[in-house]
Amino acid sequence: MNIQNIRIPTSPAFLLDKDKIVRSAEKLQYLQQQTGCKVLYSIKSLPLTTVLQWLKPYVDGFSVSSLFEAKLAAEVLSGTGSIHLTTPGINSREIKELVHICQFISFNSVSQLNRFAGLGSQNCNIGLRLNPGLSSVDDIRYDPCRTHSKLGAPLQYLHEKSIQQQIRGLHVHTHFAGKDIRPLEKVLALLERDFQKQLYSIEWLNLGGGYLLDEIEDLATLIDLIRRLQEQYQIQVFLEPGNAVVGQAGFIVASVIDLFDSDGKRIAVLDTSINHNPEVFEYQIKPELVNHDDKGHYCYDLVGNTCLSGDIFGEYRFSKVLAIGDSVFFKNVGAYSLVKASRFNGHNFPDIYAISNNEAIGLKKYSYQDYKNQWDG
Ligand SMILES: Cc1ncc(COP(=O)(O)O)c(C=O)c1O
Repeated sequence: MNIQNIRIPTSPAFLLDKDKIVRSAEKLQYLQQQTGCKVLYSIKSLPLTTVLQWLKPYVDGFSVSSLFEAKLAAEVLSGTGSIHLTTPGINSREIKELVHICQFISFNSVSQLNRFAGLGSQNCNIGLRLNPGLSSVDDIRYDPCRTHSKLGAPLQYLHEKSIQQQIRGLHVHTHFAGKDIRPLEKVLALLERDFQKQLYSIEWLNLGGGYLLDEIEDLATLIDLIRRLQEQYQIQVFLEPGNAVVGQAGFIVASVIDLFDSDGKRIAVLDTSINHNPEVFEYQIKPELVNHDDKGHYCYDLVGNTCLSGDIFGEYRFSKVLAIGDSVFFKNVGAYSLVKASRFNGHNFPDIYAISNNEAIGLKKYSYQDYKNQWDG
């Protein structure tokens, strides 16, 4: 599919390639069929209900990180799949509702477990998120295992009888955007070396997300690993990818709305901004652009339309001169973009389209009234 050939009626727009999402979901289904593991979609990466509906037939349920995500998951699933929660953000006001909505809760700390597990054990399956302390991500901002991490309980707690008695499962999510599974193998080797007895006594093991499963060439190694874990310990393995499902399926299309020189550089102002993909600013990422041509003669800084001086996508090269009204397409922006978007400066959210069979189908538009409702208070 060449996204640039598809007619998109409005700009800026967030485009979701349905066929790509279905292909990723089919790969996950294959993994489930080959191993008997259960795959959940981690809705935090993109909780758009249309996407949840597309994925529903392929996954065993959804993984969530808050009461609102849990409620949304429950509405979409309407009893046809399981809801799994883990978060550092549980508060005592929400726990009663959460234990009724979620079938599985992996508490993020021993403190959470001791305070809340008793409330939930009647209705839902209780687990503990572990932090094995094995860092495998270079950038500590993405590293769940960084020093002084807030994510998961240190492994030594598994030696305590009072902890073992409260849990039926374990959760480990330790990686970020991984394209090979060696970090996961290391985590599991550590668990098996030091906590084999505990693995024999649990019912399930959630291996989290953090791996780009759709880009991992060698799925056979992962398949063997999951099969062996399930057979040896008689446990149910869960996976909960987000980015792997929607990341590559998302595009943001924007139009050039102004062009000028600034200190010797050509600046192209777009009708989008980092409001629509905040991780560009948060982590200083340069998003990939479909139109970029490494050998292109014409170089521009693509910038956003807000008052923030650092609202800059980066420097890109083009094979032709840009003109006002030209479209640019950012790619691989399906995960953690729209869900973090804001209307800073009063610039609207992008319209949302599904792309299927080379056609754009409108899913959602936000109006001035939506903006007013947000701030009318
Ligand atoms: C506990 C947990 N599970 C799953 C995910 C999804 O990860 P990804 O989108 O990288 O697959 C995350 C992401 O932060 C997470 O924190």
